[in-house]
Amino acid sequence: MENEFSSMISGFSFAVPEKILTNFDMEKLVDTNDEWIRSRTGMQERHIADESTATSDLGTEAAKKALAKAGVKATDVDVIIFATATPDTPFPSTGCYVQRNIGAVNAAAFDISAACSGFLYGLSMADALIKGGGYKNILIIGGETLSKITDYTDRNTCVLFGDGAGAAVVQPSDGTRGIIHTLMKSDGRLVDLLNMPGGGSRIPASHESIDQRLHYIKMEGQEVFKHAVTAMGDAAVESLKKAGISSDELGLLIPHQANVRIMQATARRIKLPIKKVFMNVHKYGNTSAASIPIALTEAQEEGRLKEGDYCLLVSFGGGFTTGAVLFKM
Ligand code: ACO
Repeated sequence: MENEFSSMISGFSFAVPEKILTNFDMEKLVDTNDEWIRSRTGMQERHIADESTATSDLGTEAAKKALAKAGVKATDVDVIIFATATPDTPFPSTGCYVQRNIGAVNAAAFDISAACSGFLYGLSMADALIKGGGYKNILIIGGETLSKITDYTDRNTCVLFGDGAGAAVVQPSDGTRGIIHTLMKSDGRLVDLLNMPGGGSRIPASHESIDQRLHYIKMEGQEVFKHAVTAMGDAAVESLKKAGISSDELGLLIPHQANVRIMQATARRIKLPIKKVFMNVHKYGNTSAASIPIALTEAQEEGRLKEGDYCLLVSFGGGFTTGAVLFKM
């Protein structure tokens, strides 16, 4: 079909901390084993930030690389959208720290909180801002240091998460390629299934909240799994339908890298052969808002994303939130 494009993703990149925790390292922390983690999640290792590294540090590195790839100067950035569940500070926004670090003095900068769907919510917002006509260079960053809110005594969650950041520049389309369809959905009825209870206005930090380990990720894994499979499948089906593109025409599906089994189920739902699904969860674990831009960059570097290909990005995260972005490369 003929598509009309408003915006396009013109440069993307990522950064991860050097330190790696393998499944064998996890065996030393909690009662788990490499076989269990691999078979239930597909993960083998994850990158973990050191004590002095905050989310904006990884975000800054990813942002600089993405701007260089897009050929955009920091002073020409109009908007910085930072998607994260692990901001440097509750305020100011992590976006403002990145703005300072890169010298994007002409930008408006802010954060969005949509957990693992944050990057796709950011892309959807960028597409809308460009359609509105007032903005040209939008920098979206998905970055997390989940290790800072991971309870390394809880085997149900600690094996799953990793740190990293990915960034993309969105600009007005050149007419031949770009974003075709965006989707954002949430289901706030399910806030209790995946969250960090402490540290906000409901339960501010106190000796008690720390003793109760409330400043860590809490998750009902099986429930999250079921909802993720349904929501990501539904989002993929709806995006393809609204864009009038069949799954045969799809070049690549890049799902949020939470679990190999969730990604396989999403592919089955749209009858897509698994060879058209990009996965790198084995190397990074679940990096929440960073997972899709990291995967997008590696897919391109590995030659899996070619010019003219249709690519579908789909995510699911705490909230619950669901996102999808379909674009032509
Ligand atoms: N090592 C060994 N055993 C474990 C571990 C572990 N790391 N973790 C849990 N187990 C045990 C459980 O205690 C349970 O034991 P029991 O039967 O004696 O009680 C058993 O393994 C089975 O546990 P389940 O929870 O049924 O395992 P499941 O197959 O559902 O896999 C998993 C668990 C991997 C967490 C899965 O449910 C999942 O991927 N859920 C979705 C997680 C996710 O995507 N979260 C992120 C969403 S995005 C965001 O916003 C961050």
